[in-house]
Amino acid sequence: MNILMVGDIVGAPGRKALAEVVGRMRSAGEADLVVANAENAAGGKGLTGPLASELLKAGANALTLGDHTWDQKEIAAYLDTDVPVIRPANFAPGCPGRGLATVRVGATGVTVINLVGRVFMDATDCPFRVVNALLNDAAGLGRIILVDMHAEATAEKVVMGRYLDGRVTAVVGTHTHVQTSDETILPGGTAYITDLGMTGGKNSAIGRDLESVTAMLLTGMPTKFRVSNKDVTLEGVLIEANEQTGKATAIRRVREPAGIAETEQE
Ligand SMILES: [Fe+2]
Ligand SMILES: [Fe+2]
Repeated sequence: MNILMVGDIVGAPGRKALAEVVGRMRSAGEADLVVANAENAAGGKGLTGPLASELLKAGANALTLGDHTWDQKEIAAYLDTDVPVIRPANFAPGCPGRGLATVRVGATGVTVINLVGRVFMDATDCPFRVVNALLNDAAGLGRIILVDMHAEATAEKVVMGRYLDGRVTAVVGTHTHVQTSDETILPGGTAYITDLGMTGGKNSAIGRDLESVTAMLLTGMPTKFRVSNKDVTLEGVLIEANEQTGKATAIRRVREPAGIAETEQE
């Protein structure tokens, strides 16, 4: 099974890039399953139900979130419906939504787990203990298990990859919007990368218009960050996984220009 995991989708340009690039890769038989981080899909801030539906129709099988999960208030009710759109599993117990979803690709069950880091981020439960408990409760888990570890600190993501090596098919990092070059298959057969990168306007400050971010950094004044539509690109990884063993056999970085004109939408 060829699995495309996509870095944080930023605004309308990012959503268009997902539709374009995933459409092409699916037609070429390059991607059987697509998981994308959508925490910045709504104008850079969170996700809404209609935008989640748009991304699922455009070819994503499941969507993950992160520290921007609650930016759009309406998402809370949507996450409580039966959709393959998940928020970090180590958010406080009792908050809306789920941190794990299992989808089917042909005869194979694929479980997607979302976690958020604790280093340089808001307080949450321990992602290591939470994922350990989820994996020990084996009932209903798919043969393929994909973990999106949404975190700031590289070391926290590196350690999560090693912690889960051999127990899951892939651990991929998200959140920094900057793709790392450390993709590898760990000794136990888990595909790993510290950060997938981002999907949106690359000629920017991690997806936001350079002019507005530069003005904020120079003046220290609060500034409205516009979403960039320059050099719209999809970033992530393609993972080849064995459906019998659940192990990854290959991982390669993806940085694919969407080939779309600059837009004015957010
Ligand atoms: Fe984030
Ligand atoms: Fe993000």
